Amino acid sequence: YKRITTKSLIDMKANGEKISMLTAYDYTMAKIVDSAGVDVILVGDSASNVMAGHETTLPITLDQMIYHASSVVRAAERALVVVDLPFGSYQSDPREALRSSIRIMKESGGHAVKMEGGKEIKDSIKNILHAGIPVMGHLGLTPQSIYKFGTYTVRAKEDAEAEKLLEDAKMLEKIGCFALVLEKIPAALAQKVAESISIPVIGIGAGSGVDGQVLVLHDMIGMTHEFSPRFLRRYMNLYEDMSKAIGQYVSDVKAVDFPNANEQY
Ligand code: KIV
Ligand code: NA
Repeated sequence: YKRITTKSLIDMKANGEKISMLTAYDYTMAKIVDSAGVDVILVGDSASNVMAGHETTLPITLDQMIYHASSVVRAAERALVVVDLPFGSYQSDPREALRSSIRIMKESGGHAVKMEGGKEIKDSIKNILHAGIPVMGHLGLTPQSIYKFGTYTVRAKEDAEAEKLLEDAKMLEKIGCFALVLEKIPAALAQKVAESISIPVIGIGAGSGVDGQVLVLHDMIGMTHEFSPRFLRRYMNLYEDMSKAIGQYVSDVKAVDFPNANEQY
């Protein structure tokens, strides 16, 4: 396997090859995702919801992100591993943002960081890029700002927010981000952004006119079952399958059907 790099992704966009990206937070899942051929593994701060059961992404810490990321890095042979900077690790000032990014790169071995926001965090992104750390942007529905939005509904439906988003995307390209996530915005706007910049635009709930797609792994394999936005395609129903299997195990134990004669020493 040849390792995917930030350069490969930019080449993929130039060649019209769509980019596949999924989240992972641990070694075992990342191993499956990587060997199945996913180009980019995102150690998302969605770990706060999926792994820890928090209602939002805000509580997860930098130390916890580093733990998840280091597990994923040990599994990824081919995929580029991108790590979310968690809430509170970069918003205060550019020096804090760089310090947090350096910790991620040194302590987890991740290949790039991702952070939410546009011109508000421009100086922080530049500071990180100056240190040689690749940055992926994230615009649209940025879950770390959920208490500002007050709702998880589609963003940038109105002209003012759409214009700012397009400007932010162009700015992220100009200062040197290698790619950009657009979350839950109208497909037409996402396509316009993708056509306006040369770095790859990876969508989630942003339609097919972008350069790649990302989903939360546990959602797309149906391990979570209470979260059903329109953009989510479930490829499996693991919640049901696992519930059945585990229920069967419980009855087998109760009925002394497990272990059988071949399953003991
Ligand atoms: O944390 C995450 O899983 C993400 C993706 C939804 C883009 O940021
Ligand atoms: Na995230």
